[in-house]
Amino acid sequence: MTQWSIREEAPPAGKDYVSVSLEKDQLYDGPLVLVNRDHPVRTLARNIVALPSGILQASNQEEPIISLEATCLAQLSSLIRACRASTKIAVVSGYRSLASQKRLYENSLRDNGEAFTESYVALPGASEHQTGLAVDVGIYDGELDYIRPSFPDQGAAAIFKRLAAKFGFIQRYSDNKTHLTGIAAELWHFRYVGSPHAELMEREGLCLEEYTDFVRQYAYGGKHLYIETNETLSEIYFAEASAPSVYVPVPSARGESWQLSGNNGDGYVVTAAYPKAGSRHG
Ligand code: DAL
Ligand code: ZN
Repeated sequence: MTQWSIREEAPPAGKDYVSVSLEKDQLYDGPLVLVNRDHPVRTLARNIVALPSGILQASNQEEPIISLEATCLAQLSSLIRACRASTKIAVVSGYRSLASQKRLYENSLRDNGEAFTESYVALPGASEHQTGLAVDVGIYDGELDYIRPSFPDQGAAAIFKRLAAKFGFIQRYSDNKTHLTGIAAELWHFRYVGSPHAELMEREGLCLEEYTDFVRQYAYGGKHLYIETNETLSEIYFAEASAPSVYVPVPSARGESWQLSGNNGDGYVVTAAYPKAGSRHG
């Protein structure tokens, strides 16, 4: 059985952290950036790569070559493999430039009207697709709608949804969070946030807007968040971006691996992973 425990506590006495210096742009970059109408994309997407031929792609004029951020793509590929659904689940949309999002928004306004467009197409400059960390998927049956592909909660799609968090993905827009996200329910839109964040968000029922606030409670110097699974102990904490210096404390001991993401606003989320004693992994 999968073990999962969550606790908040001060780091153990004597644990050392060192400061790393960051580029200013890193505040707007990383798997935990919050992108919505109040938090537009602030930097150019990095590490965007085209989908390999092993992943089914819905062909459409809007996005003849579909691409994603490299880690997001690798995780998506593993997720589709784990679902044994490589002939059923197709990628419909991945990275979009600002110009593509603008074109999509304008065409949708013209063809579908204002209410539909505001519900299902993010404002140009405020789409997660501009980061390369969002992917729209559909159940392939020859053709799929570009804005609202069919991804009903059954069969391969239900398996994908059930396993998504394990691979770092969340279903980003659900019915009960529309008042926070500003977007209608989208069964097909998944966002890569990484581990263990996706599982934590799912277990706590938090959308990314809520999770960004939630993590802020665990500021460096106070209590940090610890998530323990069978194999890994993860530590999560928030480091405020204090202008003009951009130094962020990270675990310093050798062998400790950590990752850092800006939140696209006021700080960074540090995620450290510690192999557990007795575990052969990590
Ligand atoms: N469909 C989502 C909201 C987007 O356009 O980014
Ligand atoms: Zn989408």
